[in-house]
Amino acid sequence: MVKVLIVGNGGREHAIAASLLQSPSVQEVVCIPGNGGTATLPRCRNLGLSVKDFEGIARFSLVNNFSLIAIGPEVPLAEGITDALQAQGLAVFGPTQAGAQIEASKAWAKALMKEAGIPTAAAAVFTDAAAAIAQVEADGAPIVVKADGLAAGKGVTVAMTEAEAIAAIEAAFGGQFGAAGSRVVLEEYLTGEEVSVLAVTDGITIRPLLPAQDHKRIGDGDTGENTGGMGAYAPAPIVTPALMTRIQAEILEPAIATLQARGIDYRGVLYAGLMITPQGDPKVIEFNCRFGDPETQVVLPLLDTPLDQLMLACTQQTLADLPPLEWKPGAATCVVLASSGYPGSYEKGKPISGLAQAADTGALIFHAGTRLAGDTVLTDGGRVLGVTALGETVKEAIALAYEAVDHIQFEGAYYRRDIGHRVLG
Ligand SMILES: Nc1ncnc2c1ncn2[C@@H]1O[C@H](COP(=O)(O)OP(=O)(O)O)[C@@H](O)[C@H]1O
Ligand SMILES: [Mg+2]
Repeated sequence: MVKVLIVGNGGREHAIAASLLQSPSVQEVVCIPGNGGTATLPRCRNLGLSVKDFEGIARFSLVNNFSLIAIGPEVPLAEGITDALQAQGLAVFGPTQAGAQIEASKAWAKALMKEAGIPTAAAAVFTDAAAAIAQVEADGAPIVVKADGLAAGKGVTVAMTEAEAIAAIEAAFGGQFGAAGSRVVLEEYLTGEEVSVLAVTDGITIRPLLPAQDHKRIGDGDTGENTGGMGAYAPAPIVTPALMTRIQAEILEPAIATLQARGIDYRGVLYAGLMITPQGDPKVIEFNCRFGDPETQVVLPLLDTPLDQLMLACTQQTLADLPPLEWKPGAATCVVLASSGYPGSYEKGKPISGLAQAADTGALIFHAGTRLAGDTVLTDGGRVLGVTALGETVKEAIALAYEAVDHIQFEGAYYRRDIGHRVLG
């Protein structure tokens, strides 16, 4: 029997916890710090340790025999949580600080892609505004401006005019993203359809999970500001088996081989954010070093292989010996409920009703920004809940997810009405 510790507090971590608890070999799950959803899962509890307290997390795990630690978010990975826990002899699902650079530095990721021959947008890296602006004036628009470091999803400007690009460069070097903006990557503008391919790896072998698509914009029709993600569905029909074979051969395997050649022992999720060009070719937009959110909320509910076995195979470098991953037939759709005002400022502490009725429809309700006050669940963040339904097709899953959403109420609840519109056509 395995006891698993999960680090993080979003919908992603609730989905990881729920998936682990489906496994016959998982005895107990503890989330640091967790949320109102993980607090109420059977055999799961939250622990009020800081995500930054690597020492405390190591001590708790050792004293209580937690044999697997799964890291949800990118920030602790980039800060070296895996290195700190591995140094104490703990098995960690999530890359070391060196591996996490694949997400934490876009310039580093670009250099790795170049070395590996991975298809991606042409790019150049700048350390001062004047040179970057001169490049924009030479290349013209559209052009993409990216702060190098972690910027919580706010560091990228897809500039349709030179003026927009220059403003973004000035903002980055002016300190808008702190140290994350002290280097800027200018990228060729790509068109096509975006898709997320999350893969698991033990540093040698890499296996893709089902492809997913998310909706990043706040408004219907993919309009308005970027968010952490307002909904997702899987499998994404755009990724045919033939395309997945290419993604494996042209992107995932070269990435792992090149990490390995650099002496980086990468065990965890490698998430490829892809653009499928109008010619049908996959190109990398970025890599992430962890499960995507909300993609995880549609991918893991479809996974039939016990998640602890998959994670342990990654930490023990035995992924090649694991039988092919098993998936439920059909599809999943997740609709995110957010607080009014998100991704700008919003109020917290609104009581949420109808959760039991929503769950009675068969939907999975993943908590993102919630907390418990006695028996009442209160809103506690911008993205509040992810409502996932499984169906025979994406279309059916969409209808069932919205049926469940209809039962849930809180003051200012906002959600998109068109999740999955690309599939519905
Ligand atoms: N080269 C590009 N061409 C067109 N759009 C892009 C390009 N790079 C990024 N984007 C758009 O910007 C979004 C955010 O960029 P990404 O590199 O994923 O940064 P992050 O997720 O760290 O904010 C992407 O999901 C995509 O919609
Ligand atoms: Mg991205």
